[in-house]
Amino acid sequence: MSIIEEAVRKSAEKRHRLGTAEPLHGRARVRRPATAPIDISAARSYRHVTLDPSLLEQNRVLPRIIDQSALRAYKILRTRVLRRLEANQWRTFAVSGVTAGEGKTLTAINLAIAMSQDVNTLVFLVDLDLQRPRVASYLGITGLGGETGLSDYLLGEATIDSIIYSPNIERLAVIPNFQPVAQSSELLSSPRMLDLMHTLETETPKRVIILDMPPVLASDDVLAFSPQLDGLLLVVGEGATSRDSLRSAKEVLAEMNLLGVVLNRSAERDDSAYYSYGQPTKG
Ligand SMILES: Nc1ncnc2c1ncn2[C@@H]1O[C@H](COP(=O)(O)OP(=O)(O)OP(=O)(O)O)[C@@H](O)[C@H]1O
Ligand SMILES: [Mg+2]
Repeated sequence: MSIIEEAVRKSAEKRHRLGTAEPLHGRARVRRPATAPIDISAARSYRHVTLDPSLLEQNRVLPRIIDQSALRAYKILRTRVLRRLEANQWRTFAVSGVTAGEGKTLTAINLAIAMSQDVNTLVFLVDLDLQRPRVASYLGITGLGGETGLSDYLLGEATIDSIIYSPNIERLAVIPNFQPVAQSSELLSSPRMLDLMHTLETETPKRVIILDMPPVLASDDVLAFSPQLDGLLLVVGEGATSRDSLRSAKEVLAEMNLLGVVLNRSAERDDSAYYSYGQPTKG
């Protein structure tokens, strides 16, 4: 049995023991209540920011992606993730990987945007890679003057209101980070971080929180934060993630509910393979 399959099996067992959820691969369906589309502006007054389309295109960020197969692959990923979240009544998940540079941040950003295109979903995208924050630069939330981000808040130098940005993408709110900080796992377990999560979770009932996190082998951040997570979406870079590192990540992954596995940078160019989703890697 592969490492991923083993992790999936353990998390399914754990959920079964706790009696909290349907099987991950089960056919349970949760009927969506017919509600009016969510309006993010009604929730709170966030800091408005206009994203630069040419920068988004350069950074391969939706909706400026021109590669049609990549576009379709993100939509498929979005739909599958939404279904699994609904089936399990999950709302908060991390996007992580095993090692550096596998495409975690780009996947988290594009998935957040793709999910916000669903009129029933309000998405918070949080840069929780405290040591190597990149969400702000990928989206171009820089150079505004006086911008404050997650680490400012965690260090007690900013309020929650001042770190939530509303880009010109409907139903998407972003909490970026501008200053890398040390002692990241301690900050992630701090009362201020828990307060922030509580605020986001109670902001609106129909919300999804996507957390861009560092790789599980680079620090204990993901493990330290796992009690706050419903699940983990694992990004595996084709040709970038070795079996040995996957093996080393086994114990951390087994602690969490695995939401799925994204195969990023696949050499295959057909629609289903560009972002293979939930395909276990053979161990
Ligand atoms: N599917 C893809 N196609 C082309 N380029 C990609 C793809 N995914 C990621 N990249 C590029 O690879 C680089 C690393 O991506 P990204 O920052 O998302 O990785 P990461 O896993 O978050 O890295 P880190 O471990 O440093 O946080 C970026 O330049 C990004 O644009
Ligand atoms: Mg990253």
